[in-house]
Amino acid sequence: MMKKILAAFIAAFALLSCTSQKQGDADTAQENKVLVLYYSQTGATKTVAEEIQNQLGADIEAIEVETPYDGDFQQTIERCQKEMAENTLPALKPMKANIEDYDVIFLGFPVWFGTYARPIATLVADNAFEGKKIVPFCTFGSGGIEACTEDLKKALPKAEIATGYGVRNARIAAAGKELNRFLIEWEYKKGEIEALPAFMEHKPVTDAEAQIFDEACGDYQFPLGTPADVAIRETEDATEYEFGVVSKGEDGSEAQSTIYVVVGKEDGSKPEFTKVVR
Ligand SMILES: Cc1cc2nc3c(=O)[nH]c(=O)nc-3n(C[C@H](O)[C@H](O)[C@H](O)COP(=O)(O)O)c2cc1C
Repeated sequence: MMKKILAAFIAAFALLSCTSQKQGDADTAQENKVLVLYYSQTGATKTVAEEIQNQLGADIEAIEVETPYDGDFQQTIERCQKEMAENTLPALKPMKANIEDYDVIFLGFPVWFGTYARPIATLVADNAFEGKKIVPFCTFGSGGIEACTEDLKKALPKAEIATGYGVRNARIAAAGKELNRFLIEWEYKKGEIEALPAFMEHKPVTDAEAQIFDEACGDYQFPLGTPADVAIRETEDATEYEFGVVSKGEDGSEAQSTIYVVVGKEDGSKPEFTKVVR
């Protein structure tokens, strides 16, 4: 009898916590009105934007350029270089959403030339986002969320620029799970996550670690450098490496970067680099 009562109590409690969990998510999005505002040229950032929209139940709007960047990679590079040389910015189509209606704006973009894509440069030149909380998110070939966040802080001194989320376009499939952690960790939605352990201290790389680095980075379209030291941490799902890397800059000078590599614990997981921080 006692067991039955206990089971019923546990079941009712589980149901209650489930419902309040759902309710909690909706409340968070409602208390703080959230807009996901993004520019995406080739669709990677759009995928991440829609994932954030789904996880938060937020409003969403794509930023559109009057004259779209619809060329291939090389043509886009050339158009950007011309615009940068001439100091011009692309005109944007009028936005439908009224920024004033929102408290928190998730601002998404691809990384172009180490900073936010040019349509975002127009957006931040035209809007001060005064008093708004901006959460940057981006997709990239190798990295750039940290530099973009710093650039946004300079461009929008009257807004609060929060810690952002970035993902390599080659790893977009990992975004859903990573965003779940990110959104809970920074309290944009409710939920439980395990705290991650800190990285251990950096040590010179062993041959085995250098091989993991090569497997993760060797196929990338540009050389990413040589790992000098590494710190490791074990999480529930993966072994993560923080490599201190030495590379040659464009002018031949030595440059330092940090490259993060993850090796999943499932059988057959291949090392992948998650981002380069320059
Ligand atoms: C003009 C241009 C410049 C780029 N510059 C960088 C860069 O500096 N660093 C980087 O990691 N990726 C760079 N990329 C790659 C894009 O950031 C990446 O492909 C992104 O996921 C595209 O997002 P989208 O599909 O939403 O347009 C660049 C791409 C283009 C077209």
